[in-house]
Amino acid sequence: MFSRIVRPTAGLARCLSTSAQNNAKVAVLGASGGIGQPLSLLLKNSPLVSHLSLYDIAHTPGVAADLSHIETRAKVTGHLGPDQLKAALEGCDVVVIPAGVPRKPGMTRDDLFNTNATIVATLADGCARYCPEAMICIIANPVNSTIPITAEVMMKHQVFNPNKVFGVTTLDIVRANTFVAELKGLDPARVSVPVIGGHAGKTIIPLLSSCVPKVDFPADQLTPLVGRIQEAGTEVVKAKAGAGSATLSMAYAGARFTFSVLDAMNGKEGVVECAFVKSDVTECKYFSTPLLLGVNGIEKNLGLPKLTPFEEKLVAEAVDELKASIKKGEEFVANMK
Ligand code: 2OP
Repeated sequence: MFSRIVRPTAGLARCLSTSAQNNAKVAVLGASGGIGQPLSLLLKNSPLVSHLSLYDIAHTPGVAADLSHIETRAKVTGHLGPDQLKAALEGCDVVVIPAGVPRKPGMTRDDLFNTNATIVATLADGCARYCPEAMICIIANPVNSTIPITAEVMMKHQVFNPNKVFGVTTLDIVRANTFVAELKGLDPARVSVPVIGGHAGKTIIPLLSSCVPKVDFPADQLTPLVGRIQEAGTEVVKAKAGAGSATLSMAYAGARFTFSVLDAMNGKEGVVECAFVKSDVTECKYFSTPLLLGVNGIEKNLGLPKLTPFEEKLVAEAVDELKASIKKGEEFVANMK
């Protein structure tokens, strides 16, 4: 199955060659933040986007004015504070949500739950009210909980569509491709490693046995490589020494995922991305696997490829943590006033 999963063209370059038949309104919620600004820049640079709607609780007029001078077709509008959330969201085809606080050294993604759960629930409520048909792409951590939160909020409004709510795990795939390419002397743009599970520590499960092109690692290289992919976010948090977590690579990954969603909405065939979604592939209610994307979001969940015994063990080790994070998100919404 995975032999067919090769990125059509290198990195983000493909978005520049797409014909301008596309008229998507894309909103970025959290557009003034460390991820939001470079993500908005990448989206502004794409002919797939005709209207870029920037929402945040501070600084959006400035970010919007700045981006609006770029000589690309997307109209840019800035929306400031809860009173302007409706205008930001109405008519949206895709909503990308990097809003929330980032990690500091020593924190896990779950340590962000108390702050980010409320932010994501509020924004998901806005999506349910003002653009219930849109594709919702959540970057805000902890993704393993913010996706169940988004789903539960949308269920309360009776507008949850499991084919249209995605936890963006693309940075794990991007990192796996890069690290494998480094070790094997390959062009990273030609490497494709599926990463399944979730988006935190040991729930990040790279399937190196399904890598295209085929690569082999002896056991003494495989374990550290998997560990590096799982802890790559923490590597950045440590290097930034208190100034936050990955922003530029996350913006790249968020843009790559958004362009894939838009490509598929525009009728492009064979678009496959991994994302953390409602799932019955494993005993976890939400799980990331490769997804065939189409006009209406997930066209087909491609499920699990053949796993090696090592990879089966990684999945088994992730299940309890994933279930607990999912339950925590669901209970948060159940207890919301
Ligand atoms: C990361 O993996 C920020 O969760 C993000 O770096």
